[in-house]
Amino acid sequence: MKRTMRLDKLLAHTGFGSRSEIKLAVKRGAVTVNGRAVKDSGLQVDPERDEIVVDGEPAIYREFVYLMLNKPPGVVSATEDNRDRTVIDLVADQYGHMELFPVGRLDKDTEGLLLLTNDGKLAHRLLSPKKHVPKTYYAEVEGSVGEDDAKAFSAGVDIGDGYVTMPATLRVLDTPTATGLSRVELTIMEGKFHQVKRMFQAVGKKVVYLQRIAMGPLGLDKELALGAYRELDEGELALLKGEEES
Ligand code: URA
Repeated sequence: MKRTMRLDKLLAHTGFGSRSEIKLAVKRGAVTVNGRAVKDSGLQVDPERDEIVVDGEPAIYREFVYLMLNKPPGVVSATEDNRDRTVIDLVADQYGHMELFPVGRLDKDTEGLLLLTNDGKLAHRLLSPKKHVPKTYYAEVEGSVGEDDAKAFSAGVDIGDGYVTMPATLRVLDTPTATGLSRVELTIMEGKFHQVKRMFQAVGKKVVYLQRIAMGPLGLDKELALGAYRELDEGELALLKGEEES
């Protein structure tokens, strides 16, 4: 495996500015590799072995970043959008240089757990329809959700175009309160467009609030306010990678 990479690429990826800014920094002698000022921003360096310093600050290179975001409503699960703010805009100040993307999609009005990463392989495997990575949602649904719905979901329901969902697990937390809403948790093993909303529609019910609370082995960190994010810790990452391999 190739270990070396261009110095300007490494520094751009580490948050030291654009490639042209880095070129200027190199020109003014601000960048040292193993203690020596370098003159060529295209120099090949080894991120694991070479000690790279910019204006006295060590450049610590990381290839991959894994963030857990508590997605707020009103932002779209995309990297760019002409109209709406994206989940990537939320983390841009800190991670704008890392080329992150969301692992799958939540609807604009859905809240909760969304992974952001630049690890394409991990994302691909987590999203692979063959892997059946479970996703759990908390939902508030108009009317009374009960045993009949749980039975229907565990058998599979037709959500349109003749598509019948895989068995899903419904847990009713409580049936209508003063608000007329049922509170439920639903675990699905696939990720069709608007799947949860369409499953309830298939049994004649309407989801009025939706939040993802788990994906695979990862639960939404309750300490994260809406719109807040943090890097996964090592344990979480190991769990996620275990899921990926299973
Ligand atoms: N199902 C939906 O209907 N919407 C989401 O955002 C996620 C799952």
